[in-house]
Amino acid sequence: MSEYNQERLTQDVVDAFENTANPRLRLLMTSLVKHIHAFAREVDLTPEEWMAGLQFLNATGQISTEQRPEFILLSDTLGLSMMIVSLAQARAGGNAKGATEATEATVEGPFYWAGAPDLALGTDIGEGVPGEPTFYMGRVTDTDGKPLAGALLDVWSGDGDGKYDVQLSAEPTMKARGRFRTDAEGRYWFWSIRPNYYPVPDDGPVGDMLRATNRNINRPGHIHMQVSAPGHVKLTTHVFVAGSPYIDEDVVFGKRDSLVVDFDKHAPGKAVDGREMKQPYHSASFDFRLAPTPA
Ligand SMILES: [Fe+2]
Repeated sequence: MSEYNQERLTQDVVDAFENTANPRLRLLMTSLVKHIHAFAREVDLTPEEWMAGLQFLNATGQISTEQRPEFILLSDTLGLSMMIVSLAQARAGGNAKGATEATEATVEGPFYWAGAPDLALGTDIGEGVPGEPTFYMGRVTDTDGKPLAGALLDVWSGDGDGKYDVQLSAEPTMKARGRFRTDAEGRYWFWSIRPNYYPVPDDGPVGDMLRATNRNINRPGHIHMQVSAPGHVKLTTHVFVAGSPYIDEDVVFGKRDSLVVDFDKHAPGKAVDGREMKQPYHSASFDFRLAPTPA
């Protein structure tokens, strides 16, 4: 097919969508067609490569379950999930120029479990969880630095072995999860463990892709936080452990420099909140800034 006819083919397919009633759907479909046609032409895609790609997508669908969302993992490892997070935050005004910016968002990941218990500030959600004890503290403010009292922190974390509760058994119970509300000065504090790095599931087609391309399969250590307050854009983010293995090669591209925090090590003794620690422990301090809900 001549160059002219390749272009004509793309245009014919785009035109086939012209009766789409929903204008947004028409834009999504026609832009997708233009980009996948351009991709095929750019790499001069062969029939064998095209079929291998279709078989890869087929395998991705076949291994997928609710607990094993392989397409989400594919999106994550291609950086698309993080791109969508970034676009959503920019659209919500969270990255607007001007005053201090909102805390950067990152991927929610597959391990959120709604309904974590409401806990008093200072509670230890790391009891019985393998890992080094860590005291977490900080403040939740708006982008002008005004403290947000009663802001909700929904926290979830893997353990010191890099495992989430949902991965530990077929009928898991909640571990290293909890919901906290900030005090009158917007402060929060609680105990947990220092999370370790972990590999994404690599026994499916996405794992094959990562190995075939000689990519790392791990995420650096991080604790998940979803922070919300009335009148503000809900923030889904992580706090990353500075110095964690893989801190500069997060397989899902979720790491942001502004979210990396030093986990200071302390000798046994009295911690900041008065708790008597018989073993060494860490402390991590991080402040969250929430953007106002767009008018
Ligand atoms: Fe995670």
